[in-house]
Amino acid sequence: MTSIAIPSGMPQYDDVPRYDVAQVRADFPILDREINGHRLVYLDSANTSHKPRQVLDVLGEHYAMHNANVSRSVHTLGTEATEAYEGARAKIAAFINAPSVDEVVFTKNSTEAINIVAYAFSNASLRPDASAPGAPSHGTDDRFRLGPGDEVVISEMEHHSNIVPWQLLCERTGATLRWFPVTDQGRLDESGLEDLVTERTKIVSLVHMSNILGTVNATARITARVREVGALLLLDCSQSVPHMPMDVVDYDADFIVFTGHKMCAPTGIGVLWGRSELLAAMPPVFGGGSMIETVSMARSTFAAPPARFEAGTPPIAEAVALGAAVDYLTGIGMRAIQWHEKELTAYALDALATVPGLRIFGPTVPVGRGGTISFALGDIHPHDVGQVLDSLGVQVRVGHHCAKPVCTRYGVPAMTRASFYLYTTTEEIDALVVGLEQVRKVFE
Ligand code: ALA
Repeated sequence: MTSIAIPSGMPQYDDVPRYDVAQVRADFPILDREINGHRLVYLDSANTSHKPRQVLDVLGEHYAMHNANVSRSVHTLGTEATEAYEGARAKIAAFINAPSVDEVVFTKNSTEAINIVAYAFSNASLRPDASAPGAPSHGTDDRFRLGPGDEVVISEMEHHSNIVPWQLLCERTGATLRWFPVTDQGRLDESGLEDLVTERTKIVSLVHMSNILGTVNATARITARVREVGALLLLDCSQSVPHMPMDVVDYDADFIVFTGHKMCAPTGIGVLWGRSELLAAMPPVFGGGSMIETVSMARSTFAAPPARFEAGTPPIAEAVALGAAVDYLTGIGMRAIQWHEKELTAYALDALATVPGLRIFGPTVPVGRGGTISFALGDIHPHDVGQVLDSLGVQVRVGHHCAKPVCTRYGVPAMTRASFYLYTTTEEIDALVVGLEQVRKVFE
């Protein structure tokens, strides 16, 4: 495997699970590419991950041999497709230790998953009287009703997908949006927890790992407070589920969301996990085929979850491929992946500290953070940094990273971000550091 010189301060354990990174890299055809005459150095996995042959093969095989619509046909192909689709749901449920397979709702991505919860709130709030003629047949539940005086709590380190849906919900209902600030070190500032999360709070929706700062939020104190005040808790796990073991029972959240394309699966498939009794109490959001119990011209009644939230033909092959991605990641071991990235992050933080004029946004120690590091290089605009790095084959993301409030918090219009995954090597981090020296020569 690619050996990592354990950076100073990293404990060395004998029983750390390990895997052969070179062997893993051989599974990813794209990693053999050259970019602008240089070997590809892909440091943008927080944006989207690459896909191993094992997943690409399952995707191709599904379309080639088992293609049919799901939950609608009695014929053989329809049964095969349905079994593959529902089989993927079971794999994902096991991957996150969901108590029931029916708690896994397939969505297009994390954004759609968060919007489903936000729209369920406003749909429940529009018709407060469940006994009124024409009121929704699933009934409504007080926990999902909100209006003026009620509050939704997020944080300053959210991706736009965990800000805008709640802003829109508050506009529709008259509820108030509040948020946790972020410290200078890029940690969640929980000092005002008791004032921020109160009996007025209906839901706290918090990022588990920040896509821009790399911070992994410790959620225990917040969860305890959420339970104390009777609110709900949603964790945006888009950047954590791909990189570390996830156990929804341990985290004691009410909802978690994540997306397939950041965890070796195709685009177009994501997951909303919700506790059974909450999903059962939630009104539908999208109406259409497959989400109903009965339909008459005047009104309809709705299927139980997860079907209630999966209107229309779903992304079938993508879901099956997400199941294959989960098999692939499980085969390597999520603890081993987490540890590999922890070592890489420590190595990268040490290496980047040697670059003159480089300022890291977010935690500068490899504790309570993941393998996503954003930085500024002097006054050089991130787009210039990104272009020079690209000319050397090094792919990083530049811009506001769909987290504009974080850029505002640190007084910059944009950042450069390097992000790692199970296939990233220390040689690639070295290439980044050499590339940054090149950037400095060009612009300073
Ligand atoms: N959320 C993705 C990123 O952070 C798109 O790059």
